[in-house]
Amino acid sequence: MKIRGGKVRVSRQLTRMASIHIHPPWHMPERLVTPENIHRNRRRFLQELGYAGSALALVPSLLAQTAAPAGEPGAKRNPAYDPKLALTPERLATTYNNYYEFSTTKDRVHKLVGPFRISPWTLWVGGLCEKPATFTMEEILRLAPLEERVYRFRCVEAWSMVVPWTGFPLAKLLEKVVPKSEARFVKFTTVLRPEEMPGIARLPNYPWPYTEGLRIDEAMHPLVLLATGLYGKPMPKQNGAPIRLVVPWKYGFKSIKSVVKIELVQEQPATLWESLSPQEYPFESNVDPKVSHPRWSQATERDLATGDRIPTLPYNGYGDEVAKLYARK
Ligand code: MTE
Repeated sequence: MKIRGGKVRVSRQLTRMASIHIHPPWHMPERLVTPENIHRNRRRFLQELGYAGSALALVPSLLAQTAAPAGEPGAKRNPAYDPKLALTPERLATTYNNYYEFSTTKDRVHKLVGPFRISPWTLWVGGLCEKPATFTMEEILRLAPLEERVYRFRCVEAWSMVVPWTGFPLAKLLEKVVPKSEARFVKFTTVLRPEEMPGIARLPNYPWPYTEGLRIDEAMHPLVLLATGLYGKPMPKQNGAPIRLVVPWKYGFKSIKSVVKIELVQEQPATLWESLSPQEYPFESNVDPKVSHPRWSQATERDLATGDRIPTLPYNGYGDEVAKLYARK
């Protein structure tokens, strides 16, 4: 445990306050995960995403920040990353969201993201590296070829989905800034705009901005994506536009949305959820059916699409690729 004494005290205080003043995290009853929640018509859906009138009429700002040189919507599916499972319906994945900066109610997030500005956008990458830089979205989209990968996604709340992300490996970005040998961890930070994110004021005891972290060897793993699209379209705001992390073998809270800062650091960084409740949301948080969350089992998960309970797989099914990262533990 890298957190020092003083910080642990703060964490405990935050945990207590969190359970008094707010609906605690991950408390959505499973019965609410039903198709009945999915009730919006397509036209409204498009409007909420910032599309005007029809699916093809993107507003210019959205187009400007998402248009990849190769044409993001056309990014080719990489067959090496396809679990050959039925995709979760797009409407479900884009209307059932965890994004606490907007709301703790999953089916409200997509209704609140309208005023959130995703263009222009810059991403600072720095810390313990030779070539720190601030990238515009246009530069980011030119860094590496975009590809589509279908990943399983497992939330710590014990629901799961299968979705096609468009993006490129985080390693490609980290290589550009040339990490120094002292860099042992990577810290990620979400944009902090309380004026556009109504959920922040409702959770005043949370240590905003949302932060997450990975060990550097985890961050360099080819499975880790920086994603700019979903279902062959620009990333919806509610799913973390314009750019988010996807770490498929860890619980979903590690996959931080709307990233503006990536910092190479020596010490394990504090993260929002670990600061709030270290026993429930530890830094590593690999999907593991044998390790229960203190308040529920992680042995099974609810498939969002079918509602069926299915067995949870170690490392969310990515053990062949990543178990070696943890071999010496
Ligand atoms: N990132 C930010 N900034 N804020 C959040 O509340 N929630 C996390 C993760 N990233 C969250 C976040 C959690 S708990 C999950 S399960 C996933 O986002 C949900 O991603 P999705 O809405 O695309 O399914």
